[in-house]
Amino acid sequence: MDEITVAAPAKINLTLDVVGLRNDGYHNIESIMHQVDLCDYVTVSLVGDGIEVITDNSELPGGSANLAFRAARQVLAYRAKTGIRISIEKNIPLGAGLAGGSSDAAAVIQALNRLMDLDLSYEQMAALGLEIGSDVPFCLMGGTALAQGRGEILTAIPANQILELVLCNPGFEVSTAQIFALMDREEITVRPDNRQMVLALQAGDLGSIADHMINVMEQATFSLHPVLGQIKAALTENGARGVLMSGSGPTIFGIYPDRETADQAWQMMNKRYPRVYRASSYRRNGDQ
Ligand code: C5P
Repeated sequence: MDEITVAAPAKINLTLDVVGLRNDGYHNIESIMHQVDLCDYVTVSLVGDGIEVITDNSELPGGSANLAFRAARQVLAYRAKTGIRISIEKNIPLGAGLAGGSSDAAAVIQALNRLMDLDLSYEQMAALGLEIGSDVPFCLMGGTALAQGRGEILTAIPANQILELVLCNPGFEVSTAQIFALMDREEITVRPDNRQMVLALQAGDLGSIADHMINVMEQATFSLHPVLGQIKAALTENGARGVLMSGSGPTIFGIYPDRETADQAWQMMNKRYPRVYRASSYRRNGDQ
């Protein structure tokens, strides 16, 4: 076995709170993250020498600016010399608040762990992943989790509720660092109640999940990109029970009461916006 293809699912933030600036320049967050089935597919093979990244998206950098490349470099530093080829089928939009790059990096770490028989534990992979990006440990863990610290202190939340979603990306990227910097100058007035969100997820109570969706970064990102307010309104008009920006944006997602409403909303949104995705909660074995 010298080639593996791994699904790399996107994540959304059902809540996102920023609770303080740290000495290392990062911020402590408290966020409930949830994997959805909008996936990149990452094929990793042990061939040649050096690290090569091939993708079907010309906007994605191939070299060390690519998180998948950096993941491979981290693993190589860990053990042995071999060439690595990474081929990425890119479906998750870039710079979108959906952790697409982090999920690709997590997929590379998991694939190399198996291909190279490294026998790394989750903790070892997460420590390695955190050096690449704050969201990589969650992407390795998957499912639904409360993320604290930089995003690496994770508590799994057993959530059986399958969310039916429409994601709308406006077609431009947002810099996470820029939004965090803007937030340092603003006062946060409304914060999410993560305890209530955990209870809502555990109860599978869609109405309560929707009622507790709050992202404190919305104000900063919306101030730069007012079009996001229109997207939020459009998703609501099309039947969303709750609508929120994911991460630092700019992707906005709506959760819908059932598949049919979500399908219809996807069709309507697709007529107005260029990048609209119909997604559901990610189930590991893909048995939809
Ligand atoms: O960890 P990652 O490289 O994805 O973060 C991108 C940028 O977002 C960081 O350089 C930092 O400015 C900011 N950030 C932060 N606090 C976090 C995560 C990210 O300030 N918990």
